[in-house]
Amino acid sequence: MAEVRLEGVHKLFGSVVAVEDFNLSIGSSEFVVFVGPSGCGKSTTLRMLAGLEDVTSGSISIDGRAVNNVHPKDRDIAMVFQNYALYPHLNVFDNISFGLRAKRLPKDEIAKRTNEAAEILGLGDLLKRRPGELSGGQKQRVAMGRAIVRKPKVFLFDEPLSNLDAKLRHKMRAEMKILHQRVQTTTVYVTHDQVEAMTLADRIVIMNEGHIEQVGTPDEVYKHPASQFVASFIGSPAMNFATGRIEASGKTMSLRTDSGTSLDLAGCGVAEGTMVQLGFRPEHMELADTAKPARGHVSIAGSITVVEPMGHETVLTCDAGFGEIVGKYEGERRFQPGETVKFHIRADRLHYFDLKTGLRI
Ligand SMILES: Nc1ncnc2c1ncn2[C@@H]1O[C@H](COP(=O)(O)OP(=O)(O)OP(=O)(O)O)[C@@H](O)[C@H]1O
Ligand SMILES: [Mg+2]
Repeated sequence: MAEVRLEGVHKLFGSVVAVEDFNLSIGSSEFVVFVGPSGCGKSTTLRMLAGLEDVTSGSISIDGRAVNNVHPKDRDIAMVFQNYALYPHLNVFDNISFGLRAKRLPKDEIAKRTNEAAEILGLGDLLKRRPGELSGGQKQRVAMGRAIVRKPKVFLFDEPLSNLDAKLRHKMRAEMKILHQRVQTTTVYVTHDQVEAMTLADRIVIMNEGHIEQVGTPDEVYKHPASQFVASFIGSPAMNFATGRIEASGKTMSLRTDSGTSLDLAGCGVAEGTMVQLGFRPEHMELADTAKPARGHVSIAGSITVVEPMGHETVLTCDAGFGEIVGKYEGERRFQPGETVKFHIRADRLHYFDLKTGLRI
């Protein structure tokens, strides 16, 4: 267990800025997830933490000790990658204990740690098998076992589950959580999957083009996204947006959208004339029978273009005039393309972002 701190970290590859002014303090035992689109600098940041990549400027410290110039093997960090790179000719026991044997630990200590890790990961019955005789999930667990036995100060994971099918991913995700609750090792976990980020993280770091957009708990980034980028990245189906200008007539505020339609906004606190992106989540749109919304609600109508029945809910894609919106409906009603539907949204669930800066207003 250890604290990890990155201060003003930059990474350039020639003229390519891979990571820009990265500042983050990770608490002891914390599980932090880096999430963001492909190429945003997640792996590069992780590799700098591991010492596999030099830092162009800035500092990295582990438990208060600057590690910029410390060799990877002396940082007391264990990293698990997407491809688990097991030794095909060694059995599970020997794969897990490989690093300990290289360190020439006493035999009984190696056996003790390896058996402990195998027990935590449910690999006890598979110790004699070779990687070729294991499923993808089992191989992934062996790779994790190899990291656990080293009892490192910090675990680094780079998309460790992305080679697995959806069902196994889900199962391994739950196992990652249990594992962390048991060993409590400070963890930095990289993924481009926002669901994985939301479900695993104590805190999420959302990255975009080399910089941090927001750091927060899953609840904070979902409820109070700091930017339109975060708002569109977190949540599934993604948040809906309408672009336009805030207008006032008497006490009534409205959004004049680019396409000329007008949306009445109940209790909007944004100044008249501001160009905004108005955001609202599919799960906050309640299907309604009337166009007139209840107090403190906003009404949006749309013509259904796609109906996706999911069993427990139906996802409706609609043309709302100002653009396409996606709504969710939990209930028995059936829908047809072309049908007009109305949604009511609580005004306190609307998000306003400055059109120019993308920042939350
Ligand atoms: N060795 C390298 N030489 C030059 N450019 C690099 C190198 N490694 C990474 N980059 C660039 O740095 C940026 C960040 O890459 P990085 O691998 O950190 O992204 P990522 O967020 O991990 O993406 P992904 O989700 O696809 O794995 C990208 O623009 C990438 O092309
Ligand atoms: Mg990567």
